[in-house]
Amino acid sequence: MEDRINQEKIPFRTLYGGEKIPCMGIGTFGSDKYGAEAVSQAVYGAVKYGYRLIDCASVYQNEKEIGEVLERLLAEKAVERKELFITSKVWNDMHGEGKVLASCKQSLADLKLDYVDLYFVHWPFPNYHAPGCDGDSRNPDAKPFSVEEFMATWKQCEELVDQGLARYIGMSNMTVPKLKAVLPLCRIKPAALEMELHPSFQQPELFDYAVSHNILPIGYCPIGSPSRPERDRTAEDVADIELPAVVAAARAHQVHPAVICLKWAVQRGQVPIPFSVKESQYISNLKCATEDPLTVEEMEAIRLEDKNCRLIKGQVFLWEGASGWEDLWDMEGRLKC
Ligand SMILES: NC(=O)c1ccc[n+]([C@@H]2O[C@H](COP(=O)([O-])OP(=O)(O)OC[C@H]3O[C@@H](n4cnc5c(N)ncnc54)[C@H](OP(=O)(O)O)[C@@H]3O)[C@@H](O)[C@H]2O)c1
Repeated sequence: MEDRINQEKIPFRTLYGGEKIPCMGIGTFGSDKYGAEAVSQAVYGAVKYGYRLIDCASVYQNEKEIGEVLERLLAEKAVERKELFITSKVWNDMHGEGKVLASCKQSLADLKLDYVDLYFVHWPFPNYHAPGCDGDSRNPDAKPFSVEEFMATWKQCEELVDQGLARYIGMSNMTVPKLKAVLPLCRIKPAALEMELHPSFQQPELFDYAVSHNILPIGYCPIGSPSRPERDRTAEDVADIELPAVVAAARAHQVHPAVICLKWAVQRGQVPIPFSVKESQYISNLKCATEDPLTVEEMEAIRLEDKNCRLIKGQVFLWEGASGWEDLWDMEGRLKC
């Protein structure tokens, strides 16, 4: 492997309260394509190379294997626990009373940690689908978003902070109307918002709303998730790595278009969490944040590529009577609660 990266060269972002975290992390969702062993081996190599932020979730079904490599890395003194920033997430079937604590404790046991650095509510409703399901599957118990139900889940997350099991808590897959409804009710504010962000889906309104409330945007699918599961593909989807401004910048900088998506993300100010099990990819991904930035003109050309193209539409979480996946994202400006 290439020499480990110099940590001092990696730009950082600041959480409320002043803590610094790296400007990029590594994702761990194998997209039903890469198994737990491949993903955990990538985490091992990535931490050795210099990644410090690892985006985990119970539903990715690989926290146990990732825990084993974390234990190994700490035993080998490749890294100290306090240098790492590990996230996990409560899945939709664990929102009920007392279940968030149980879910977090299970993730901690699997990850072999005493605490996670950031614990997310993965989706803002308890609608569950089985891992690996197809795009047409629906759960008859699925319900629309409810402020009351969400806050019951969030209060349990606040208790995780009180108990020292999570240092920060965050929300994921939110919208501006949902944030407006819940933020005033939070005793402990979210430190970060995990949201889909890539050149063809820039979510400027939500991004600006988060930043203006001192909530760090963490960008998932930063390369446009070229290996995403079938259930998350539709004919209208745009491929970010084929966008003209991305391809032009890739030629100018002599890198893969995926790397341009990441440079754009870092320079815009979000924290991308690209996934890769391939050493050459995850090395070039983190390295690109430390060298050869995009020009102001390239940044602007990529900004203009926004096509409002959401890839992870979440249709498997829809409830009976919903008119379409747009309902999950308050796209008519109505908050159904
Ligand atoms: N909060 C949420 O609801 C949520 C939802 C989705 C994802 N996430 C998180 O976000 C992470 C990233 O999203 P994602 O995995 O869907 O999409 P992504 O990071 O946009 O795409 C990952 C894919 O891009 C390709 N790639 C990576 N680096 C590359 C490089 N340097 N050159 C060329 N190709 C490259 C690889 O494809 P090949 O393997 O085909 O080479 C890899 O599988 C996930 O792993 C997960 O941790 C969170």
